[in-house]
Amino acid sequence: MGKDVIIALDFNGEDAVYGFLDKFRDEKPYVKIGMELFYSAGPGIVREIKRRGHKIFLDLKLHDIPTTVKKAMAVLSALDVDMCNLHAAGTIEMMKAAIEGLVRADGTRPKLIAVTQLTSTSEERMQKELLISATISETVVKYAQNAKEAGLDGVVCSPLEAEMVKAACGKEFMTVTPGVRFADSDKGDQVRITTPARAKEIGSDYIVVGRPITEAEDPVKEYRRCIAEFVD
Ligand code: C5P
Repeated sequence: MGKDVIIALDFNGEDAVYGFLDKFRDEKPYVKIGMELFYSAGPGIVREIKRRGHKIFLDLKLHDIPTTVKKAMAVLSALDVDMCNLHAAGTIEMMKAAIEGLVRADGTRPKLIAVTQLTSTSEERMQKELLISATISETVVKYAQNAKEAGLDGVVCSPLEAEMVKAACGKEFMTVTPGVRFADSDKGDQVRITTPARAKEIGSDYIVVGRPITEAEDPVKEYRRCIAEFVD
């Protein structure tokens, strides 16, 4: 499986996004479009970034009844994105419906990965508010196994969970991991972080990197540094 670095396009407007992407002249990085950008700029931004030749991970984390998710996934698939995601909490039935919705007329489909438990959810809150009595680790592994059973390609998880997920679901089951920082860079609000080199050792298939690249003085240089540590 090809490893790659995905840049999180966490910008608040289209001009900022295009200004950023224009800095890349020799490469076309894989990018992630999240809810804020998609809801403000609309599907047009996906088409434009695709037209510019980038691969796109559309990070909209769907969670609804199976029929609704199936129909929504069909719309996203028609935008020709390369990867999208949903919440595994929607059940195996919802995840199977999502896959059905993603399959295009020619038989191809974007990769589909699941969010297990958000890294912002503490074990205490999960147990007290959601009445899930298992540990976070057990829940993450079970949700990943459900995603695998439904036919999904992998999960988005913290680098520290990636090893557990690989052990439970197999090497081929993809792990996409945010929370990446260079050993010498600012952590920002991320707590449980790892370096690109360590993410590679752990077995992540894709790392999602935002601010270390988007807020750098020389984003292209930092992107290349990520590629050098994680991919090459
Ligand atoms: O700037 P930074 O590298 O922290 O950006 C990480 C990206 O990954 C952001 O888009 C963030 O929303 C996303 N993400 C995350 N942690 C998760 C899930 C998604 O940081 N558990």
